[in-house]
Amino acid sequence: MRATAWLSIFCFAAAVGVLQVRAQPDNNGFVSIDCGLPETASYVDTETNLPYVPDAAFTDTGSNHNISAEYMLPRLYKRFYNVRSFPDGARNCYTIRSLVAGLKYLIRASFYHGNYDRLDRLPIFDLYIGVNFVGMVNVSNPDGVETLEAIVLVPDEFVQVCLVNTGSGTPFISNLELRPLKRKLYPQVNATQGLVLYARRNFGETTDTIRYPDDPHDRIWRAWTRPTIWDPLSVTTTVTTSDIFEEPSRVMRTAITSRNTSENIEFSWDPEPDPQNPMPRYTANMYFAELQLLSGNAVRQFDINLNGDRRYSGLDLKHNYLHYSVIYNDKNPYPVSTHYKVSISATANSTLPPIINALEIFSIIPTTNAGTDSADVSAITTVKTAYRIQKNWVGDPCGPKALAWDGLICSYAISTSPRIASVNLSFSGLSGDISSSFANLKAVKTLDLSHNNFTGSIPNALSQLPSLTSLDLSNNQLSGSIPPGLLERVQDGSLNLRYENNPNLCSNGDSCQTGKGKSKLAVYISIPVVLLSVIGLLAALVFCLLRRKKQGLGNTIVKPQNETPMSHVPLGGRNIRAQTSLQLENRRFTFNELKDITNNFQRMVGEGGFGKVYDGFLEDGTQVAVKLRSQSSNQGVKEFLAEAQILARIHHNNLVSMVGYCKDGQYMALVYEYMQEGTLQEQIAGNGRTGRCLTWRQRLRIALESAQGLYS
Ligand SMILES: *[C@@H]1O[C@H](CO)[C@@H](O)[C@H](O)[C@H]1NC(C)=O
Ligand SMILES: *[C@@H]1O[C@H](CO)[C@@H](O)[C@H](O)[C@H]1NC(C)=O
Ligand SMILES: *[C@@H]1O[C@H](CO)[C@@H](O)[C@H](O)[C@H]1NC(C)=O
Ligand SMILES: *[C@@H]1O[C@H](CO)[C@@H](O)[C@H](O)[C@H]1NC(C)=O
Ligand SMILES: *[C@@H]1O[C@H](CO)[C@@H](O)[C@H](O)[C@H]1NC(C)=O
Ligand SMILES: *[C@@H]1O[C@H](CO)[C@@H](O)[C@H](O)[C@H]1NC(C)=O
Ligand SMILES: *[C@@H]1O[C@H](CO)[C@@H](O)[C@H](O)[C@H]1NC(C)=O
Repeated sequence: MRATAWLSIFCFAAAVGVLQVRAQPDNNGFVSIDCGLPETASYVDTETNLPYVPDAAFTDTGSNHNISAEYMLPRLYKRFYNVRSFPDGARNCYTIRSLVAGLKYLIRASFYHGNYDRLDRLPIFDLYIGVNFVGMVNVSNPDGVETLEAIVLVPDEFVQVCLVNTGSGTPFISNLELRPLKRKLYPQVNATQGLVLYARRNFGETTDTIRYPDDPHDRIWRAWTRPTIWDPLSVTTTVTTSDIFEEPSRVMRTAITSRNTSENIEFSWDPEPDPQNPMPRYTANMYFAELQLLSGNAVRQFDINLNGDRRYSGLDLKHNYLHYSVIYNDKNPYPVSTHYKVSISATANSTLPPIINALEIFSIIPTTNAGTDSADVSAITTVKTAYRIQKNWVGDPCGPKALAWDGLICSYAISTSPRIASVNLSFSGLSGDISSSFANLKAVKTLDLSHNNFTGSIPNALSQLPSLTSLDLSNNQLSGSIPPGLLERVQDGSLNLRYENNPNLCSNGDSCQTGKGKSKLAVYISIPVVLLSVIGLLAALVFCLLRRKKQGLGNTIVKPQNETPMSHVPLGGRNIRAQTSLQLENRRFTFNELKDITNNFQRMVGEGGFGKVYDGFLEDGTQVAVKLRSQSSNQGVKEFLAEAQILARIHHNNLVSMVGYCKDGQYMALVYEYMQEGTLQEQIAGNGRTGRCLTWRQRLRIALESAQGLYS
């Protein structure tokens, strides 16, 4: 009954006028979508005089088809002439916007197959509203209209209606209608439960289906009368109607009665279980109004029984002349049964047979699944749009779990909306800037954007992601420098950042400059240091330790760097709170000290846009390179500090040590260990061209750090 209503509808005239394509609700708040209609072909429906719009503004998947000529019945409404079908993807959705969050909506989807694909195959698929299953669409006839109507509370300003392919044929849809309902209507509907229409009947009416404008909510009341069994009754005056259902007066003006008081009015139905809802529960609204002016001792009084159990006793319509009475149940749906039979029987005192004017039967669906956090949805949707991501990114990002978007990992918790916890868009062929919308995914812990063609700079906003612990930007075409906010996170150990193989990314000193060749020093410092085997290092370490033992020195315990307490060194710069772990080796030099070290900047060993690099020696004889930022440098203070921090933290792992830095008035400089040509092993073993053996501390540190670097 819910499903198939045979087309017995008259369609009077051809389409009138062409309306503008609108993806907005109309003046009533109605949205009426003719699915599969060409994009410019809005029209006014001849049954309701409501404007129907094409669906292109509501979905970006699927394809349009006309039904087969043999199903273009002369009485068929235009809204059934075409369908949109969805051969690809497990889930395809319509997104309807500009709704009122928290309002109840009647959402009605209709399906008229009409052998549109010329395959003579009828599909079965599922319909979801948002992340909640509404029902199974079982198209059992090419010329029957299946309709699935639900009344649900829409929690957001938009709603998605999704067709889910369950492996039994290609989902399709003919039209989709949304009608807002006032909050107080249908008290059975709340945030956690909705109603799915099984039947809506207007008793005593012989032919006409009543809907808009007689029903301002455009419910479809089908005429139902059995003149051979029951007597129709009708009036022409207005009947007062209830304000929690707002049933149309026109529906209440007709009714049926049984022939005499010993006859009951009876109706029955069989449940329609779905695999997802094997034991549906039902509830009914029964509408009554006295249509005869009862005189004297006349009494119309009746009981209502469900499957033989009394649900309602002694309803007396004496005072209901032209005035509604509704029997409904907003707390306890009917007990689960394999067959439902309602009988309305006159009481012993009744002088008149029972009456009924209208009936609605619904199954109850849970709407307890919450959609993904709306801020997350809006951020990831912006990302999807910006990069035209295809994948299966349709419908709600996280729900239902089985249909969550590829590349996302969500966190699910009872009673709260799922959050996007991880986004993996690696190897997705994405190009352009990194969208700042990624920074609106506030619950994201892991963001993998590696192996794409991202260009431009890294948005500093990413550092505002409170839970971000892993950010992979490697293998892109990013440029600029690592934003200070991210560096800070790297430094305090809260973020694991990968950015290798971004040839234009200024993470390493002189490569920041555009065009100019790299200084000689930069080659030593910047190029990721040659493969180093830990075995080699350990061998060197053992070698040195042995030597040391021979020299009779005791053990030296050196803590790994990051166990040392961090110091907050205000390094200046606008928003930079340079939290550094520069320590011991990472000394802060004054400009005068640098002068001494470099012998008044005597020997320049390299030059770039950033500034010049000078050779020098520390007090203990360690050879260093001093990179002095020139006043005219186009490397800003920020970038300079970025480099300092990066080197202090990351380049350690590449065994190029930063010895210290200088921030003295307008002077800024970085001081590195001066790596001579030749391998590090040579240096460690003291065989480098300098002929100098690194200090014990240095050797141990290098060995420990390279071990860490290679294993972390
Ligand atoms: C459907 O039929 C209409 C009118 O006959 C035609 O304009 C339109 O191109 C057809 N659409 C498809 C997808 O065949
Ligand atoms: C679909 O409908 C047909 C005909 O009404 C019925 O025989 C079939 O069992 C239904 N399929 C499912 C999965 O309910
Ligand atoms: C009531 O109506 C039914 C059927 O219309 C009839 O069979 C029956 O005899 C009637 N009973 C009385 C008491 O009139
Ligand atoms: C919705 O109504 C059902 C049935 O009365 C009730 O169990 C449930 O708690 C209600 N949910 C909310 C959110 O009020
Ligand atoms: C039926 O009428 C009797 C006598 O008037 C009254 O006592 C009784 O309560 C009535 N029953 C109902 C269900 O109204
Ligand atoms: C992202 O997905 C790729 C495979 O597509 C995988 O290799 C990589 O490890 C994933 N990244 C994360 C952070 O899980
Ligand atoms: C980047 O783009 C180039 C050409 O546009 C393409 O050949 C290459 O595969 C892309 N790289 C990635 C990682 O998508």
